[in-house]
Amino acid sequence: MAGTEFYGAEEKKEINDVLETGIFFRFNHDAQRNNIWKAREFESEVAKLVGAKYAHAVSSGSTAVSCALAAAGVGAGDEVIVPPFTYIATVEAVIFAGALPVFAEIDETLCLSAAGIKKAITPKTKAIVLVHMCGQMAQMDEIMAVVKEHDLTLVEDAGQAMAASYKGVSTGLFGKTGCYSFDFFKIATAGEGGVMVTNDETAYKLADNYSDHGHDHQGNNRGMENHPVLGFNYRISELHAAIGLAQTRRVPMIRENNNRIKTQMMSELGKIPGVTFATIPDPNGDSATFLNMFLPNTEAAKRVVEEFNKNGVAGFNYWFTNMYHFINQWNHIKEGKVAAKTNVQLLGAPQDYMNLDIPKTQETIGRLISFGIKASWKQEELEELISKMSMSITTALGQTA
Ligand SMILES: Cc1ncc(COP(=O)(O)O)c(C=O)c1O
Repeated sequence: MAGTEFYGAEEKKEINDVLETGIFFRFNHDAQRNNIWKAREFESEVAKLVGAKYAHAVSSGSTAVSCALAAAGVGAGDEVIVPPFTYIATVEAVIFAGALPVFAEIDETLCLSAAGIKKAITPKTKAIVLVHMCGQMAQMDEIMAVVKEHDLTLVEDAGQAMAASYKGVSTGLFGKTGCYSFDFFKIATAGEGGVMVTNDETAYKLADNYSDHGHDHQGNNRGMENHPVLGFNYRISELHAAIGLAQTRRVPMIRENNNRIKTQMMSELGKIPGVTFATIPDPNGDSATFLNMFLPNTEAAKRVVEEFNKNGVAGFNYWFTNMYHFINQWNHIKEGKVAAKTNVQLLGAPQDYMNLDIPKTQETIGRLISFGIKASWKQEELEELISKMSMSITTALGQTA
């Protein structure tokens, strides 16, 4: 959770600019706002950071996924391939778009694999929501080949992977639309916030309209604006955008620190027999927010988790039993428990969600433990952590330390 580690004078300055004007709404009020447009500046900063032609800020990473889907034309009745390992928002956004999630296998990148996607394609498949998990990136060459071969729409949920890239292209910019989360746990935070990115002008305009009740944002009289499409309220406030702006400027520094720390952790922990790491298709493009470590199997990973807990090693996620990142615990989705009917109930689930055949995903997540890297760690803290981790792992794997 790097962004929050560096909250300081820069964030306060940006917030104060908004407090001075009292204009917390991102649109209009031109005369009173003293030329303070934090949402616009935030969008420009994100676009510059990732190399996008267009960026559009909204209220959360979750609503950014919804905007990315709508702007890519993904909607009612479409089958959409999603990973069973992601933050649940990805799947929720697909369902609330009226579409039907189809779960496919991931691989050691922790993201959907090209083979997994291929296996899940049916004549009704419209799109893929590719999630770049745990700060890393998917195997983009292979996945883009499948996207092209089957003429699919690619939407990227890079909620956890802003500032990651593959061969020089940022995650989020391979498909029609992409998005990032700026919640409290991300490389940069806005408190709450999200940004949709695209290089497609039409998709950008659609997201801009869709995220604000369809408003076309022309002129300075909101009551007289036209509504090119139906939309809803996914707007970000100026206060949240102000924090996001200051935080986005910190990302290159955070990314550099993360990578330095991750390299040291991998080099030290990699010496322990039985420890390997998630595949990073382009190591130069890692945002390095997580160290993603594999143990030989699920049982070994569980023993390591126990030892970590015994020895006071904190700051890790064992996703296999995590309630919100892995399908094994998504009972409400699998059992179709909803407040009000969705298209999954109306049209029928495209798969038997209770009996999904995803052995590769099960064994991959079963042996994965991810550590949230703190960009502010001092060398002594890091060394102490690595030493405690090594001791716990060797004990758990039955080796002498
Ligand atoms: C992959 C992914 N997508 C979407 C989201 C949702 O973002 P938010 O919490 O900003 O709504 C998250 C949040 O953790 C995420 O990890």
